[in-house]
Order: sequence, then structure tokens, then C-alpha cells
Amino acid sequence: MFSMRRIEMEPEISPADISQDIDGNGGNHGFLEAFEPKVNSFEFILNLVECYAAKHHLKKKSRWRTYGARHFWEVIAFSFAGTYKNACFLERNRSRHINTLHGCPMSWRTRYKGLEITAREAVRRHVKPGDRIFIDSACAVPRMLLAELIKQRNALKDLEIVHFLTVGGEKIEREFLENSEFFRYNVLFIGDSLRPAVNDGRADYTPIHLSEAPGLFASRRRQVDVALIQVSTPDRNGFVSLGTNVDVVKAMVESANYVIAEINPNMPRTMGDSFLRVTDLNHFVYSNTPLIEYELEKSPPEIAEPLGHYLASLVENESTIQVGMGKAPAAILDFLHDKRDLGVHSDHISEGYLDLINDGVITNAKKTFHRNKIITSFAIGTKRLYEFIDDNPMFAFHPFDFVNNPINIARNDKMVSINSALSVDLTGQVNAASIETYFYSGVGSLMDYTRGAALSKHGKPIIVMPSTAANGTISRIVPCIGNGARVTVPMFDVHYVVTEYGIAHLHGKNIRDRVLAMINIAHPNHRMNLLDSAKKMKFIYQDQPLPVDNEGNIVLYPYQYETWFSMKDGREVFFRPIKPTDEPRVQELYYSLEDEARIFRFFFNKRFFPRKDVQADVNIDYESNIALVGLLGDEPKNRRLIAMCSYIRDPETNLGEIAFTVRKQFRNQNLTKFMLQYLVRIAREKGLRGFKGDILWDNQAMVHIIRSSGYRIHGERTPDGGFIFSFDFKDKVE
Ligand SMILES: CC(C)(COP(=O)(O)OP(=O)(O)OC[C@H]1O[C@@H](n2cnc3c(N)ncnc32)[C@H](O)[C@@H]1OP(=O)(O)O)[C@@H](O)C(=O)NCCC(=O)NCCS
Repeated sequence: MFSMRRIEMEPEISPADISQDIDGNGGNHGFLEAFEPKVNSFEFILNLVECYAAKHHLKKKSRWRTYGARHFWEVIAFSFAGTYKNACFLERNRSRHINTLHGCPMSWRTRYKGLEITAREAVRRHVKPGDRIFIDSACAVPRMLLAELIKQRNALKDLEIVHFLTVGGEKIEREFLENSEFFRYNVLFIGDSLRPAVNDGRADYTPIHLSEAPGLFASRRRQVDVALIQVSTPDRNGFVSLGTNVDVVKAMVESANYVIAEINPNMPRTMGDSFLRVTDLNHFVYSNTPLIEYELEKSPPEIAEPLGHYLASLVENESTIQVGMGKAPAAILDFLHDKRDLGVHSDHISEGYLDLINDGVITNAKKTFHRNKIITSFAIGTKRLYEFIDDNPMFAFHPFDFVNNPINIARNDKMVSINSALSVDLTGQVNAASIETYFYSGVGSLMDYTRGAALSKHGKPIIVMPSTAANGTISRIVPCIGNGARVTVPMFDVHYVVTEYGIAHLHGKNIRDRVLAMINIAHPNHRMNLLDSAKKMKFIYQDQPLPVDNEGNIVLYPYQYETWFSMKDGREVFFRPIKPTDEPRVQELYYSLEDEARIFRFFFNKRFFPRKDVQADVNIDYESNIALVGLLGDEPKNRRLIAMCSYIRDPETNLGEIAFTVRKQFRNQNLTKFMLQYLVRIAREKGLRGFKGDILWDNQAMVHIIRSSGYRIHGERTPDGGFIFSFDFKDKVE
């Protein structure tokens, strides 16, 4: 689910290194000199003079006179008194936003100069036992402040650490996590590093939709005492950017009693609702450490390739995408390079998006909400990503309550959300957060995007996962979510489930159809067990078969035969091998045929098409028996079956016996001509010698198609009005 690897960077930072650095510099990192525009003493005094002048309502001319000896001592006294008074006030009330001196406006530079502090002092003076402390996440973890918390842990009992996402790859972060007896963790999402602690009772987990997490803190229902964050350097207007993580940080900064930031020039200046006035901070420490880098792990190619194929078939051009955490979703981005004008509205962005942006696939030009912008909340990746998002107006970072709000997500037409799961049961219930009773991750953004994409016009919420775990020994498609595992997405919210074996479209389907669809995307080694379980639970018919070969082995759906064809009227028809789940559609096609067509197809006016007959048509071995269906419609879930063709190989002659059916209103659109040629291609690949058939002579359309097929036809009319024919693939006529 949540799988990423920290990229090793030497040397790793440790608490000892950091405190030595702090001690060595006496707490002053020369930061004020390190950024433009510079703050110098002259400017500082000028500000005080301005304040003095405003306070005493001096006219412009008079202000200049304050430089003179007459006011000199008065100004100095005023300044010291003001600075002292403010310092006392700050200390006493732990208040921020003090932008005035003696009630007069004070420039941010003046105010800012007094905010720098050492990490040691920041922790010693402002963190108290029993406090609730918020710590910035992932790459924005303020490592210098963490190091200091560890150092002073003995004096800081009973701290509650609120954290959205721990990653834990960094030495300092690991040390911090290892000291959980001093810090009681409370996480909003369980990352790799804190999983053991949450599960053995040393840390807490608060299950919450990420869209609602900022509100929990902004409302002060969970009052944070001190927020420790990491931000960019201030710009010339005195604003710092929250950089890679805006997520819940903005709400924390606004509601925490005290905010201490690490100002780091390596933190990108991201755009959007990501800015704070530097004077919103109570204090800052200067840090120049490189940001932590993470490489998201991807599914291996044998899984990524079929997954990518199926997912890409669901992502239309001009869609807006969200790709969740996990190996499987991370792999999908590599398969979208032939799409056009994709947009992004996603809780987080990672490295994978960059190539699509550079290749011109992601343009955001067709987005219906925040056109031309990638809307996101946090970034996780490598230096390449951090440099890319720095000062880049293509990205707008916003808090979770905006980005993950399902209503905002739904304002993107064609919103496609792609998220991972741990297991899905036969009815489509998704478990994305626990392995039996073991807490594994959290609901995170899953429901936010599932609901948002479902509400979007032509939106598609997709769950993607490999079909097995533990080297294929465990099926991730399970009879029931059980043994203490929790349902993260209920069955009625699930639309598409994708594994390396195909796509199960579940929304609006009855339990029997859902179960059948889920079994058919399970790993073949587990399908029979799932079929038995489904029968025991009476979810499906007791005689329900599965596609098997001559030896009873499960056969795989051959997705390589999927293709498109343009009818005479220009509409595109999607052809694919038939699936067991096509049973109701095929039944419906047969019942739609008019009397004459029924006679042409079945040689008598067949009135009934019982399920048992149709089952034989849809449960095929894709080897000696091939059947394709033609589907018309923009969206996969709305596609209607309009044509069907098949052959069954006769082992004695090695000829395939062919049959075709086209819905009345789609005839004379060249569908059958195309299907015949396509079946020839497949049959040749499978080593068949040719085709044969038995049709009624009155079926002149079919007779014409066969005769004009481009092969030398051997045929004879029979006394009962039939026409028996065959042709060899090698006997082509020009
Ligand atoms: C026979 C059937 C499959 C043809 O499907 P289709 O998709 O309409 O066929 P196409 O559009 O590819 O080709 C139709 C061709 O037949 C020709 N045709 C149509 N009606 C004809 C007729 N009465 N006499 C002669 N030719 C005729 C068309 O002109 C066209 O040929 P052209 O493109 O060279 O002009 C369809 O009518 C059908 O489903 N019938 C019921 C089931 C059936 O008969 N199946 C075949 C036995 S298994």
C-alpha cells in the first residue's frame, strides 16, 4: 500500500551533529545575512524611527528631524522600551501576529529579526511536559527540532505527537520513533515506520478522512500546543511557503498556540494556498539540510504491464487523474504516455508525473476546475521533483480540506481516481487499511477520491491491486472481508476493480454479477476456491462454470485481442474476447433478434435462450473456441453489446466453424466483414487451417460476405436450403 524507499544521502544527520552545529555557532546561523533582501541594523533603526514618527503624529518634514539630536535619545529609549515590552508580551501570552510597536505598524523585517532562536532554546522554552505537538510530515519533517526534542526528552514527559504521515527512512526520524516511550504518537495515517508501534499499543491512530483532518485541528477540538514545521526562506514581501507539505499544516499553524519553523533554503517555494507571513511564526531556526528524498516503489513489470494496460484503457483523453500511494498506482503513470491533455487533481504528487508533464501529456488545459493548474496538497519524491515544483505556477498547493473535498474533486469532469487496496471481497467491499486486526495504513484520501470521482461527470473511481500477496500464495480477492479486517470502502461505493487479470466493473451490478466479475480477475490458482466459496454462500448459481481448458485448468482472458473498429458511420466499436460476465448481455442480444435473424442464426425460430445455453457461449477456452464481442459506447460501463462472432475448432479437420450475430440497427456497417477478417488473424496465429460454416442460402448477406472474403470458397447448396462452405487460409484470391 504505502511503499517507498528513502534514497540514501551521506552523511545522515543525527541529533549529535545538529546540536553540535547549533552549539558551534552559538545559535546564530548567520541566516539574516543569507537571504535577500538583507536586514541590517540601519534598516532596523529606520523602522523604529518610522514608528516613533507615526506615534507622535510627526509631519513628514518633522520625521526627518528625528534624525537630529533633538529626538535621538528619545527614539532610542522608545525602541528599547518597545522591544522589551513586546518580548515580555510574547513570552507571557505565547502570542503571534505582533506587527506593531507601541501600537504602530512594524515592518516584517524588523519583526523577523527578533524571531530567530536556537533549536535548543526553542524546545527548552516553549515545549512543556504534557503538550500536544504537531510535526510536519515526510520530506518536510523538521529534523533539527526533532533532534532537540530527543535530546531534551527526559524533561519532556507525556508529549502527544500529532503527525499526518511518518515515513521513517531518515536516521533522525527513526531515532525519534524509537523513543516512543517519551512521545505518545497519534498519527492520521499509518506509514511503514510507525506500523509496529501502533499495533503493539505504543502509538495511537486516529481514523479520519484527510479532507476532514484540517477541520479537526482548526476547530480546536484537538488543540495543538506547539507546531513544529519546515518552510522556505521568506520572499521580499515577508512570506514563507509551506513548500512540499500544505496538507494539514496550514490548519495547525492557524490553530496551534505556538509555531516554530525550520527555515530551510532547500525547501521549495510552492504556489497556491501555501504561504504564511513570516510574522505568523513565533520563532524560527535556520536549517540548511537537504530535504529527505524518497523513491516510490513500483510493482514489478510482469504485474505493472497488464495493470497498466487495463488502467490505461479506463483513462480517457482529457481526464483529470489522482494516483494514490502504493506500488500498483505508482506503476500506472508509465502507461499513460499516449494520452492527451490529462489534468491532475491529487492529494499528493510524485516523481511519476514529471515525465508526463515533460512529454506534454499532462497539460491541465482541459480541466474544468482550476484549468491549467495541478491542484495538490503535498509532494513526495526526489530533488528533481522539489526543483520542479519550486516557484512553478503550474502547481497550486492547498490544504486537504480543499484538495480532498469530494465536492471540489467532483468539479473536475472525467475525474479518474486510482487507489490501491489490500484486499477486496467477492461483493466488492474494499479493505485498504488492515491485515486482519493489524492496522496497516489508514483511510487517507481513499473515500474522498472514491466519492469525488463517482460524483464527477463521467468520473471513474478505480481500485487497483495485484491479485495476490506473499509470492502468490495469498489471494487478495477474498470470499469476505473478515477476521477483524475493516471495510474501508463499502460495496456500493466501488465502481472499478483492476488486477493484472482484468477489470471488474461493479457499480450497479447485482451480487451474482459482481461475484463473477471478481472471480474472473482473481489469480487463476485461486479462482476455483473462490468459486466454491461463492457457491457455498449462494452468491452464484450452483452450476456456474469457469472458463477452463481440456484438462480442467483455468484459462486466462487474452487481452491482446482487444481492438477497435470504425463502422461506416464513423462510430468506433470496441472488440474484445468474450468474458463469463457477458452472460446477461449475450442473452439480451439473442432476445433482441427478429424472427428472420433467429432462423438465420439458429436454423429455427428459437424462442428461448436459457442461461445454460448462453453459459457455453461465454465460458470458453480461448484456444479451440474463440468468441469476440463488439461494444458500442463512450464509457466502458455504458457500452452496449452490438455484435458477436466466434469459431470452434474441429480437431478432425483443423477448421474453425464460424458464427456471427449483429444487432439489427447496426447491420450493413461492415461489422461482420471486419469480424471475419479478425477471426482469420487469430485462427492463423493459433495454427488453424481454415474456416467452415453452414448457413441458409436465403441468408444472402452472409453468403455475400463469405464469397467476398478474399479466399477460394468450396461450397455447395443442400436440398434443405442450406449452404455448406469451407476455405483454406492459404487459398487467397486476389
Ligand atoms: C448476416 C449478418 C451477420 C451480417 O452482418 P453485417 O454486420 O450487417 O454485415 P456487414 O455489414 O459486414 O456486411 C454486409 C454485406 O452484406 C451485403 N448484403 C446485405 N444484405 C444483402 C442481401 N439481402 N443480399 C446480398 N447482399 C446483402 C451488404 O451489401 C454488405 O456487403 P457490401 O459491403 O459488399 O455491400 C447480420 O445480418 C446478422 O446478424 N444476421 C442474423 C444472424 C445471422 O444470420 N448470422 C449468420 C449465420 S451464423
